[in-house]
Amino acid sequence: MDYKVADLSLAEFGRKELTLAEHEMPGLMEMRRRYGKDKPLKGARIAGSLHMTIQTGVLIETLTALGADVRWATCNIFSTQDHAAAAVVVGNGTVDAPAGTPVFAWKGETLAEYWDEAEKVFQFKDVDGNAIGPNMILDDGGDITLLVHKGTEFEKAGAVPGQDSTDNEEYKEVLRVLARSLDNDPTYWTNVGAGIKGVTEETTTGVLRLYDRFKEGSLLWPAINVNDSVTKSKFDNKYGCRHSLIDGINRGTDVMIAGKTAVICGYGDVGKGSAESLRGQGARVIITEIDPICALQAAMDGYEVKRLESVVDFADIFITTTGNFDIIRVEHFERMKHQAIVGNIGHFDNEIDMAGLAKIPGIVKDEIKPQVHQWIFPDGKKVIVLSEGRLLNLGNATGHPSFVMSNSFTNQVLAQIEIYTKLDEYPIGVYVLPKHLDEEVARLHLDAIGVELTVLNQAQADYLGVPVEGPYKSDLYRY
Ligand code: NAI
Repeated sequence: MDYKVADLSLAEFGRKELTLAEHEMPGLMEMRRRYGKDKPLKGARIAGSLHMTIQTGVLIETLTALGADVRWATCNIFSTQDHAAAAVVVGNGTVDAPAGTPVFAWKGETLAEYWDEAEKVFQFKDVDGNAIGPNMILDDGGDITLLVHKGTEFEKAGAVPGQDSTDNEEYKEVLRVLARSLDNDPTYWTNVGAGIKGVTEETTTGVLRLYDRFKEGSLLWPAINVNDSVTKSKFDNKYGCRHSLIDGINRGTDVMIAGKTAVICGYGDVGKGSAESLRGQGARVIITEIDPICALQAAMDGYEVKRLESVVDFADIFITTTGNFDIIRVEHFERMKHQAIVGNIGHFDNEIDMAGLAKIPGIVKDEIKPQVHQWIFPDGKKVIVLSEGRLLNLGNATGHPSFVMSNSFTNQVLAQIEIYTKLDEYPIGVYVLPKHLDEEVARLHLDAIGVELTVLNQAQADYLGVPVEGPYKSDLYRY
């Protein structure tokens, strides 16, 4: 069986939701109409790692409609919607959704399972059934990009460090998977890497890793930073989180948010959406920031800006959105009040020191339901932690709604086409899509919500010094 999902009998339910989502994803459906015939991704073998949700199902079926072969894993152990995974595997027999797209994802994977399944997205076969690697990567957070880079580095060095070389439980699994592949074939990852044309990366945290690699000279291929398309980060990160943060808190706890004091750590795009999400419910929202510009923005948006230490004793809800690590630590947990709720909406779980929490002497972890735990301190105080510190909007709820993901994923499709069809225009480096494509993504979403766009006349266009059809802003414009 070239797939691994929770339950194929969920496929019919998944298909119904996929069909509903298609209606809300005009950008992706336009990609199918525009490019479905010419199939610019014909011959592409895309290794994908991105939350296996209904919206991602529509993305996968758009990529296949454009000619690609796809293998898919999730990028988070709790974020898979099992009915979406099943529906993509079963397909609906049409050219957009042929049966048998290999998906390796289910809700509630262990870390070991997660990394074992991540490795499988590289295992394409040619028409004769011989093993062949992917030629494109579509990543969210950079985990499968990391596998190829680390694998290649260790192969060059001739060895993978033992699992005891790190305290990080997740990295131990990476080392285990890489050691196994190196045992089987000492040039496996080098060959996989050599076959790949490029990567398109979905999120802030993954993009950071790509720029780091480029700076240190170790990036193997060109990369398109999808996150920093305006129609991605200023929409998905902000309006998506505005929708899905409270969805996660509500489904996880059903606590009354109105009247509570909530702390949002970080006031970037995700923080801005998250703060509005809670303020919209009537919470009193306090922001923490390290960047004076974002701190000033928060203050002028009407939020109090404080240090976590000043508010940790009395706040009710704590949400991390920084993309940084070690934001909520043991010393904070110890000072929180009874039944404080703690969650993270940033990409990785290291924003909250879960390992430190587990080591507090006498503390007990008690599961209320999957992805909702109360941590009982020796004195009886309980703190509720959502999704074990992993992104709660996808762990406790279903992530962002289709319409906003259509913007993000239309950028993904355009980015895949760019690298796959115009590789010679992209020497190794990290790029954003050109402005006219960013504007095009927005344009594709206007009709669906009844927007009447004003059209420049030639004299006005000349006055501004822009073409009538755009692009309208310089790259310096910040929206
Ligand atoms: P960003 O860079 O716009 O915002 C992060 C903010 O946190 C910055 O303003 C930074 O100054 C601040 N910060 C950093 N360290 C801090 C600290 N110690 N205390 C307080 N503030 C601190 O990044 P963005 O786009 O908002 O993304 C944040 C995270 O969310 C990333 O990991 C990203 O990958 C993830 N993400 C999650 C989504 C979801 O659906 N859960 C959607 C999109 C992004």
